Amino acid sequence: MRRVGEMLAGMLAGVLVLAGVLLVLVGVCVGEYQHDSILCDDVQAICDINNLPYDKNETLCGTRQSFLNPSECNCGTFCLQDLAEGNECDTKSVLSYPSRLCGPQLTCVPNPSNIDEPGTCKKNSAWPCLHLAQQYELDEEAGVLGPGRYKPTCDDFGRYSPVQCSPSSTCYCVNPEGRRLFGESLIAEQDKMDCRCAVYWDEIETKGFSQGLRCLANGNFDSLNCQDNICFCFDKDTNTIPYGPFPLNSLSTLPCYNTSLHREEYYNPCHKQQLLWDSQSSENMVIVSEKRRPVCSPDGYYASVQQLGNTAYCSDIYGNIIEDFSHTIEQTNEMTCNCARRRQIMEENGMGASKPKCCPNGEYYPWQKRGLLAYCVDLNGNQYNESVAATDIQSLPCYNTLDPCQQ
Ligand SMILES: *[C@@H]1O[C@H](CO)[C@@H](O)[C@H](O)[C@H]1NC(C)=O
Ligand SMILES: *[C@@H]1O[C@H](CO)[C@@H](O)[C@H](O)[C@H]1NC(C)=O
Ligand SMILES: *[C@@H]1O[C@H](CO)[C@@H](O)[C@H](O)[C@H]1NC(C)=O
Repeated sequence: MRRVGEMLAGMLAGVLVLAGVLLVLVGVCVGEYQHDSILCDDVQAICDINNLPYDKNETLCGTRQSFLNPSECNCGTFCLQDLAEGNECDTKSVLSYPSRLCGPQLTCVPNPSNIDEPGTCKKNSAWPCLHLAQQYELDEEAGVLGPGRYKPTCDDFGRYSPVQCSPSSTCYCVNPEGRRLFGESLIAEQDKMDCRCAVYWDEIETKGFSQGLRCLANGNFDSLNCQDNICFCFDKDTNTIPYGPFPLNSLSTLPCYNTSLHREEYYNPCHKQQLLWDSQSSENMVIVSEKRRPVCSPDGYYASVQQLGNTAYCSDIYGNIIEDFSHTIEQTNEMTCNCARRRQIMEENGMGASKPKCCPNGEYYPWQKRGLLAYCVDLNGNQYNESVAATDIQSLPCYNTLDPCQQ
């Protein structure tokens, strides 16, 4: 009996404590807000009393950086003020939060004579992209830009933006270090190009994956994607799937199906050929041709370098050789066929008159001519050094009479 009594007493005490807790909670909820409280215990009320918005405003600062109000319980959104090039900036802030920072592409460089003095917002030319863009601006001012000079596009942090465009030619995708990726299109189409799929593939391949979303030839995401016979529409702007999943055989009913971009069977020529190849091998069939497994781009078309027997050749998107650009396999490590591909894109789009000159292996000929001028180009066909009159071509630093195409 004693034990039961104890239990009952214990339960009663428990209920009383619980009721007490509830009372306290209710008291807090309905009680008056102590606006002299230094605790951010009721942020909404504090914001109300100070006549500040409570919600974060995602659009207030546009593309500039925003943060929650640091001084008043995170009420509403504050925009970081961007300082311009040449403005004074603090390398050491006395406040615990900054309200002004050097704007996009700028770094706060400390005062060299006195570290305690404010620094200056400057373009940090240690970033290759910013350095080249600055060099371009200087040469533009000096009036020595050549016809093939390109101005790199840098992001807010001074790295390469994904889309880079060569003048009067094509745009292509790069990674933040400026390394060339899949994806190219005519310069006239540059506004449609974002290269986000190309960057995504670079990232997933770095992590060792070989499967992912399909791209378009310009390096954007393809809005129509299928995996294992399941298809969906992909919204590249929101990274969401607004329609799907749908079975492969209902592909053409999807709102993102576009007859000028897509095939009813979904697979683009190279992906289709790869599937065929893989099914052959798995059935242990003897492969008699010299053909190798095709190399596909993330858009499902043929990559620019393909192999046949012991040669590598520059391929169009359907797997056919471009002109006669090819090389023996031993020498193909550095083969990109960037020049051959651009040459073909320009030829096919009525820009044949200004298409680049390529080496037999499909890389850029070290110098190019445009109009009455000649100039040196890099591996992406962009001019470096000043141009000279075409009649004075021997004075170019890249000029070489032996074998200009030997690397
Ligand atoms: C957010 O800021 C924008 C730009 O100042 C303004 O037009 C909009 O009304 C604000 N939204 C809210 C919910 O306060
Ligand atoms: C289909 O694709 C073409 C080529 O990219 C584009 O110009 C056109 O606007 C697209 N049509 C639709 C309905 O999205
Ligand atoms: C040519 O360009 C290279 C690389 O951009 C540079 O290092 C070199 O100084 C330039 N030479 C001349 C003669 O302009």
